[in-house]
Amino acid sequence: MKRRNLLKSLGLGVGATVLGTNKLRAATETNTKSVKRVLRIAHITDVHIRPEHNAPSRFKQCIESITKMEVDFFLNGGDTIYAADYDHITRERVKVQWDIWHKSRELFSEYEVYSCLGNHNMWWAAPDKSDGMYGKEFAVKQLGMPNRYFSFTKNGWTFFVLDSNNKNAGSLDQEQMDWFKGELAALPEKAPVLIMTHYPILSVGPEQGGNHTDCKELTKLFYEHKDKPIHCVSGHIHLLEKTVYNNVKYYCNGAVSGFWWEDGNADSAHKSWVSQTPPGYAILDLYEDGSLMNSYYSYEV
Ligand SMILES: [Fe+2]
Repeated sequence: MKRRNLLKSLGLGVGATVLGTNKLRAATETNTKSVKRVLRIAHITDVHIRPEHNAPSRFKQCIESITKMEVDFFLNGGDTIYAADYDHITRERVKVQWDIWHKSRELFSEYEVYSCLGNHNMWWAAPDKSDGMYGKEFAVKQLGMPNRYFSFTKNGWTFFVLDSNNKNAGSLDQEQMDWFKGELAALPEKAPVLIMTHYPILSVGPEQGGNHTDCKELTKLFYEHKDKPIHCVSGHIHLLEKTVYNNVKYYCNGAVSGFWWEDGNADSAHKSWVSQTPPGYAILDLYEDGSLMNSYYSYEV
């Protein structure tokens, strides 16, 4: 694939910079308006931290790259550990992975991190449901989350961190959907909103299975709030995409771990990439008029 086409497929477009193989590769949308930026956030997702493949030191490299960006805080989009969800995963293996996460978290302990649950975070194979390490509650605790879904506000923006890990995932359960609808309805007119999910609510790429199964209900809900600038960020499919539907922007960012820290497969455009997406993170610039710029950076060769 020619480099120009490669950039296009990555959604890099005009304003993208490729400085060389060892340098940052940025997907930068140009904001031509002279509007005040009110927040700069790092969106990391699918860290999949694990002992193998030098993942801890490669993650350190990622964090060192991000901290140069002068961000206000982090959004962590789920699948923080490699995998706890498969039937064969032992208690010891789950502990090892979370221990590496806690150690890695010390690298950027001065920053607030708001996390959401990914499908690989939960240990369903615990001996029984009363086990302290079983299911969502344990993962919520490991990630320092106030609840499996929650909201908060900062500098005029409202953030929703949602739990997509429900029946027919990605989807919201009824309790969460009712809460979400109520919270949106309570916001003032034109309030800017940023929603983080693990699964993309709407996805456009060739990989199937990325969409929320309740995307019809959610897009209808967002249409009822068309006065508000609404932006969504996600991960899960490890691919960089942008979808716009009814003026709502859906950004799916690539994985910090790329190909789960492994070399890749026949579809990988380069080592560690998932198809045409390199391992990386996004910087989200949020403006006072409710606009948002999502820029994607790779941090290793
Ligand atoms: Fe993942």
